[in-house]
Amino acid sequence: MHIREYTEDDLEAVFRLRRVAFNSTDRPERLMRPGTRGLVAELDGRIAGVLGIGEYAQFYGGAAVPMGGIGGVAVDGASRGRGVASALLDAALAAMREHGQAISVLYATVPALYRGRGWERSGVLEWVELPMDRLLSVPKPTERIPSRPARESDLSALHDCYLEVARTIDGMADRRPPRITVEKVLEMDLVSVLPGPNGLRGYLTATREPGGDMGRLKVHDLVAVDAEAQLTLLASLASWAGTLEAVDLRITDPATVDLLAGTPLRHSVWTATWMLRVVDLPAAVAARGWPRLANAAVDLEVVDEHAPWHAGPRRLVVEDGSVRVEPGGTGAVRLHARALGPWFSGAQNTHALRRAGLLEGDPADAVVLDQLVGAAGVPRLADFF
Ligand SMILES: CC(C)(COP(=O)(O)OP(=O)(O)OC[C@H]1O[C@@H](n2cnc3c(N)ncnc32)[C@H](O)[C@@H]1OP(=O)(O)O)[C@@H](O)C(=O)NCCC(=O)NCCS
Repeated sequence: MHIREYTEDDLEAVFRLRRVAFNSTDRPERLMRPGTRGLVAELDGRIAGVLGIGEYAQFYGGAAVPMGGIGGVAVDGASRGRGVASALLDAALAAMREHGQAISVLYATVPALYRGRGWERSGVLEWVELPMDRLLSVPKPTERIPSRPARESDLSALHDCYLEVARTIDGMADRRPPRITVEKVLEMDLVSVLPGPNGLRGYLTATREPGGDMGRLKVHDLVAVDAEAQLTLLASLASWAGTLEAVDLRITDPATVDLLAGTPLRHSVWTATWMLRVVDLPAAVAARGWPRLANAAVDLEVVDEHAPWHAGPRRLVVEDGSVRVEPGGTGAVRLHARALGPWFSGAQNTHALRRAGLLEGDPADAVVLDQLVGAAGVPRLADFF
């Protein structure tokens, strides 16, 4: 098997693989787009598999960590089960490390495949259905903030407004160019902005889509930097009450839905889970933001056969407000490759990782790992009354 970066000459073969795998009919004009790379696997001189890597960055602890977003993994139907996808993932790990992408995220249709290579479920992308009666009962903002349609000259303020909020939510992308083109926002059906004294206080983007009698309103971003601006944008959605029974809101800021929107006891949430893989532990630790903690150290034993560059005894050192990973130490806490993603994202604490068989060692040593990422887990009840 030969694995190499794809070139424009591979367009037909890659399109065919993806058409058959995903039943997709959109034929791209170009394979090579700014901010995207890809790998192909050749078997017996024919292209048997493909994988794309997008250049993104995710906020963790307020700092943007370069992230390789894996997508479009497809293997020819006649060549499956022979390790082609696994070999592509191994090559992708080395390629991402080389390009400074310290972490990697993917939306998996086949979790087993990616688990085998160290990715693990570490976060969600969610849409919530907000029934109109609930939107109508949202408290009215006390302040009247006039909104207006967005113009091209608003684009950088719009992105700044997004960043001001996104930076405070672990996992959010920074939507950096060239992978993301901010101008595309203006192609949406509804883009309204709330001008503020310094830039924008908030904005909302939405598209009308088919579904039901009157179609759906899909709100892609409802983002605002303060409560009054969030309430103003929520109130603006109530104006659709005549034509729609509900709107679909993509959760950008969970506080908007949880603290202001007032969803009913039972409501519909559409969830897509994403899996995270730490590609290069020292680089990922250096790139993320950390809370101010007293000096501490955790001795790790990283078990990771697919990323040997960070495997083995490593010491996580918290010193004078900075955190780093260096080789050495006693290996007191054993962390499997699959534990690194959910730990780094804060999705699971060390107790859960232990119960899943992904972490071993003294709980008193491991607790520093939780304190660092603030991994308290999502508070839950499993009893209903
Ligand atoms: C999923 C796909 C890429 C796997 O390609 P492949 O070359 O057959 O995968 P591999 O041979 O490297 O398999 C690696 C492991 O994943 C497992 N696996 C592969 N496909 C699987 C599936 N559909 N369901 C569950 N496990 C699967 C294999 O059993 C194997 O596990 P093992 O190492 O324990 O034996 C291929 O089946 C495909 O193109 N499917 C359609 C498109 C798709 O779903 N892509 C994934 C997008 S996220």
